[in-house]
Amino acid sequence: MRILAVESSCDESAVAVLDSACGLLAHELFSQVELHRLYGGVVPELASRDHVRRLLPLTRAALERAQSGPEDLHGVAYTAGPGLIGALLTGAAFARSLAYGWRLPAVGVHHLEAHLLAPLLEPEAPPFPHVALLVSGGHTMLIEVREPGAYRPLGETRDDAAGEAFDKTAKLLGLPYPGGPELARCAERGRPGVFTFPRPMLDRPGLEFSFSGLKTAVLHALRGRTLEPQLIADVSHAVQDAIVETLVAKALRAVEETGLDALVVAGGVGANRRLRARLGEAAAAWGARVWYPRIEFCTDNAAMIAMAGLLRLEAGERATLAIQARAHWPLASLTPLLRTASAREAT
Ligand code: KG4
Ligand code: ZN
Repeated sequence: MRILAVESSCDESAVAVLDSACGLLAHELFSQVELHRLYGGVVPELASRDHVRRLLPLTRAALERAQSGPEDLHGVAYTAGPGLIGALLTGAAFARSLAYGWRLPAVGVHHLEAHLLAPLLEPEAPPFPHVALLVSGGHTMLIEVREPGAYRPLGETRDDAAGEAFDKTAKLLGLPYPGGPELARCAERGRPGVFTFPRPMLDRPGLEFSFSGLKTAVLHALRGRTLEPQLIADVSHAVQDAIVETLVAKALRAVEETGLDALVVAGGVGANRRLRARLGEAAAAWGARVWYPRIEFCTDNAAMIAMAGLLRLEAGERATLAIQARAHWPLASLTPLLRTASAREAT
């Protein structure tokens, strides 16, 4: 089965072509970073309008690269949520209409499921069941993934997501949007131990996170000081350390509590090199192994939407003709793929 997939949940427009036998044939992406930089964050209305401009050229480029035409395709997948509703609707309307015009089945994909299944695009896929640490701009969750589609949330953030904590503290440091990768770059020049920020909720049992206190701690540390490069680097180092150490400790706790020895890290913050290094060390000491998607598939992309969409289409899932998008969509409400397939066979 060969499918085309469209991602438009936030500020990346992307289109990919994935084939169940030949693998990933194309993945095209346009990032709106420059468009939103002026405002210091994503402006939803501008994001929606830009998706409208980008999706068709990206689709043409992806099909060309995949040396495929609509006649070679067996379905179309698109991100149906969660995300910015206007941005989602542009992609959903575009992809649903393509599928209708091409007389192909369509499927609406859950963006977080796609992040979780992104490591399946790699030559060596993680085993099931496993623990997943999902760390993106909007979500920070630990999940027991029993099989594709069966997700048991173990703990999540009570306030800010890890990516949001990176982005908001980066803004306090005067770093350009998007702050996460920028702060990580500055942290490399930072001196360890000059600042120490709280590691929230580490002293309490459980698998919940809380990152909103970090902004206040940084604000206090910066009071009365000028934002010089070394100060920015030192504070960045301490912020990154606080976030990374909290994520590592809780992820290891989840591995310990579930008795599983495989950990998948997904979502934009999974691109953070310090997090990757520290998790690798900590997991190895525990006898566990960590799996990641390649760096470019940690942040938003259409290849991961194609992977989740392909599995759901193969299981027989079909979207109706209605153009549907959901800003909020609980991950735990998804149906396991094997169950979807057997329910289809029973009817
Ligand atoms: O998964 P993603 O691309 O979009 C969402 O679905 O949210 O994640 C974006 C988040 C942003 O908060 C961004 O600052 C963060 O991931 N991020 C990073 C790094 N690369 C992206 N945070 C820390 N270090 C990085 N290298
Ligand atoms: Zn995402």
